[in-house]
Amino acid sequence: MQALPNLFLIGPMGTGKSTIGRALAAELQRDFFDSDHVIEQRCGCNIPWIFDVEGEAGFRIRETQVIDEITRRQGVVLATGGGAVMHPTNRRLLRERGVVIYLSTTVEQQLRRTARDRNRPLLQCENPEQRLRDLLEQRDPLYRETATLMVSTDRRSPRSVVAEIRRRTRRYAGSTAYDCPSSLSGYSF
Ligand code: S3P
Repeated sequence: MQALPNLFLIGPMGTGKSTIGRALAAELQRDFFDSDHVIEQRCGCNIPWIFDVEGEAGFRIRETQVIDEITRRQGVVLATGGGAVMHPTNRRLLRERGVVIYLSTTVEQQLRRTARDRNRPLLQCENPEQRLRDLLEQRDPLYRETATLMVSTDRRSPRSVVAEIRRRTRRYAGSTAYDCPSSLSGYSF
């Protein structure tokens, strides 16, 4: 099997990072990690509990620890939480240690995918749509700054998204180190 660099999925809540990540890892026969799940397993409690007791700041400290640990591995697929790019250390670790894929979709699709979810504290508010729009405005430049490539998941099957990611990351096979192309900032899609 050819060496493959790590593949890291970033992007807003409800873009399908976990679903795509799991399917991608299965096809490539790689280990899959979801940083939110690892945090929950370590802590023995769920994300709303961590936000309640430790605040978002406490959650972010745990998130950076887990991202640092998992990104040290080789050939893994990692789905990160939507806010992982907020911390400059996370952005650097992701960029330096793998190919970073920004999964994007519309806010409408995000709303549909997260509508009945109670596990995302940031969306337990009066107007989740506005919250998603605000978060996107704030974070989109950071996703672009961190990403090697950007893939839309809007109205697409996981199968088709996985196929596109495989096709576009094939050029990195055979190298665990790679020249990170300049970030996506400033590009329009
Ligand atoms: C968050 C996204 C969540 C989770 C936490 C905070 C965010 O992950 O990490 O609720 O700040 O956008 P998903 O993107 O997997 O929902």
